[in-house]
Amino acid sequence: MFYEIGKKHGLPHDPWKSCVVPRPIGWISTLSAAGVPNLAPFSFFNGCGDFPPHVMYAPLGRHQDGGFKDSLVNVEATKEFVASMCTSDLREPMNVTSRHVARGVNEFELAGLTPEPSTLVKPPRVKEAPIHIECRYVKTVELPSWSEKYPNFVVFGQIVGIHIRDDVMTDGMVDILKVKPLARLGYLDYTVVDNVFTMPFPDAGTIDRAATKPRVPEPAE
Ligand SMILES: Cc1cc2nc3c(=O)[nH]c(=O)nc-3n(C[C@H](O)[C@H](O)[C@H](O)COP(=O)(O)O)c2cc1C
Repeated sequence: MFYEIGKKHGLPHDPWKSCVVPRPIGWISTLSAAGVPNLAPFSFFNGCGDFPPHVMYAPLGRHQDGGFKDSLVNVEATKEFVASMCTSDLREPMNVTSRHVARGVNEFELAGLTPEPSTLVKPPRVKEAPIHIECRYVKTVELPSWSEKYPNFVVFGQIVGIHIRDDVMTDGMVDILKVKPLARLGYLDYTVVDNVFTMPFPDAGTIDRAATKPRVPEPAE
């Protein structure tokens, strides 16, 4: 089948979100200007860039109280966020943190999660998660939208530090089978990363990758 975006697809549900899968879930914590922690999951989330690395998340639509979602309002006000990794065993509290609650509600408390102080930024991270990515806000990009009621924003942040819990490391590498990340599919479906295979680059041994990659700058004092 083929359907043109914006026209009738004739299916019981919109298939779009099944067509870019699986999507990692960025569990985004921010602080409001008043210092109240906020936590919400975003599956329009990903890593991008490598020198330095960045992440993005897309807060879409509006908050029930009017204005934009807390995860957008807060990051633009306080310029920092943390993306904690949502894993299979954290699916229920993750879902609770997506509830549309009044501004000023602390979703860490709502979901019974522990806010752990971050190292380089002020928003707390989810202690129960095995990986936390501390970020400084870079910019918001507003994409075209068909309705004022449903704006399409993408927030970019530069990664400044990453915490990885020791028990999910094996021989100095992140052991993803110990992490078991949760990921979003279309409809109401999810998946868990529970298998891994390795495939070398096709030109391994024939090109000097180090020559095409810039050196990481010397660490600042
Ligand atoms: C697994 C999952 C993924 C979600 N992904 C997004 C997303 O990518 N963008 C979005 O705007 N909302 C997404 N939501 C809904 C938000 O989490 C929800 O609107 C939340 O209340 C926003 O909170 P905030 O106003 O505190 O930022 C998702 C919900 C779930 C359960």
